[in-house]
Amino acid sequence: MTTVIKNGTIVTADLTYKADVLIEGGVITEIGQDLKGDKQLDATGCYVMPGGIDPHTHLEMPFMGTYSSDDFESGTRAALAGGTTMVVDFALPNPGEGLFEALKRWDNKSTRANCDYSFHMAVTWWGEQVFDEMEKVVRERGINTFKHFMAYKGALMVNDDELYASFQRLAELGATPMVHAENGDVVAELSAKLLAEGNTGPEAHAYSRPPQVEGEATNRAIMIADMAGAPLYVVHVSCEESHEAIRRARMQGKRVWGEPLIQHLTLDESEYFDKDWDHAARRVMSPPFRNKKHQDSLWAGLQSGSLSCVATDHCAFTTEQKRYGVGDFTKIPNGTGGLEDRIPMLWTQGVGTGRLTMNEFVAVTSTNIAKILNCYPKKGAILVGADADIMVLDPEKEKTISAKSQQSSIDYNVFEGQHVKGLPRFVLTRGQIAVMDGDMQTQEGHGEFVAREPNGTVNQALSKWKGLTAPRPVERTGIPASGV
Ligand code: URP
Ligand code: ZN
Ligand code: ZN
Ligand code: ZN
Repeated sequence: MTTVIKNGTIVTADLTYKADVLIEGGVITEIGQDLKGDKQLDATGCYVMPGGIDPHTHLEMPFMGTYSSDDFESGTRAALAGGTTMVVDFALPNPGEGLFEALKRWDNKSTRANCDYSFHMAVTWWGEQVFDEMEKVVRERGINTFKHFMAYKGALMVNDDELYASFQRLAELGATPMVHAENGDVVAELSAKLLAEGNTGPEAHAYSRPPQVEGEATNRAIMIADMAGAPLYVVHVSCEESHEAIRRARMQGKRVWGEPLIQHLTLDESEYFDKDWDHAARRVMSPPFRNKKHQDSLWAGLQSGSLSCVATDHCAFTTEQKRYGVGDFTKIPNGTGGLEDRIPMLWTQGVGTGRLTMNEFVAVTSTNIAKILNCYPKKGAILVGADADIMVLDPEKEKTISAKSQQSSIDYNVFEGQHVKGLPRFVLTRGQIAVMDGDMQTQEGHGEFVAREPNGTVNQALSKWKGLTAPRPVERTGIPASGV
């Protein structure tokens, strides 16, 4: 059985040209003129692009006393509806728990995925077990990216000694550390002060996490990675301070990548002020939304290449869950949704306004991500041999975003009322049609795990350090160094 996508314009990260795409057995088998297939999809007037990759999701994640409400089924259905054909989720060990124990849970949850997926491993504590298991996780499980939380003190946060030890180990294994960069100590101080002064509402969340806490942590993580000889991926870059640190590091020849979110690019801090409690709380996430100066910085970063990819950090909580924080903003579950809206919002506000070229759009939503995470060209490419994860985007198709018609299982949408122009006509996941003219045809369980080899990058500036071995943790504690 072959499928052919006919009469479209192929748009990749570096080329735009007219050609048909032939698919068989889930992969692209031919690209050319006048191709024939058993089944024909008409892409006249449309752009044929690599399906989006979302490098940052939290599906059914235990967090802040609850679980994020979209699971691998609804989350990947939302992804496909919006032209995203692969998600990368974070497997989160409980403090003191082994990496493989956590992976077992993520393996179970992800059996319901409608599209392909991969995992980043979170490093939530440090000890011999983590040190030892990291090697197998990298070499046998095909997970080459490890996330460290520099915030959420008393829960997920790891300290500088743990960051340094973990980064050294990852450099040795050829894997890439990632950071949630906010100074967790300062956030905890500011939060306590705000609460003590009677600021209990969701707007205080924004005051408790100013751009400086993010800029400081990003700089610190970059320097620690430098000392460890490791590359670094900074998630949810929301402000100029953090972007500036990344820009400078890249200028100095370091492999440091920054990932802004579609939310930070398109929504600003006014969402928290003079709004009803529910409205503001639904938009509570870390880092919080910023002002226009920071948004302009993020757009400039995508244009110049100092920022590499656009994610969602999809971590959706219902209004009822958000209300756990009535009377104390620090108890509002942090996170927002965006999986279904990332591509239409970025197309509309990026390509539609002239801020991004179509090729830059493909780079930041798909190809750059596949390259950094090391699953290119299986993913992120329209090439013979690549997986047929394809989005056919109709630039004339438009809608107004509304929770009423979304796939996500929560009861609101942070982009409610936004008009978008440029929507998927077809979405294919490994050759199988998941979306056809707005009609969802997803198949639960179709998604497969994508293994990613270590890419072995070290920072050139410190390549002379290569060959140093990472120090083993001194004692077996099994206790999270940062406590819980
Ligand atoms: O507020 C957020 N971003 N929630 C999800 C967890 C994280 O920090 O990425
Ligand atoms: Zn985070
Ligand atoms: Zn409202
Ligand atoms: Zn996140």
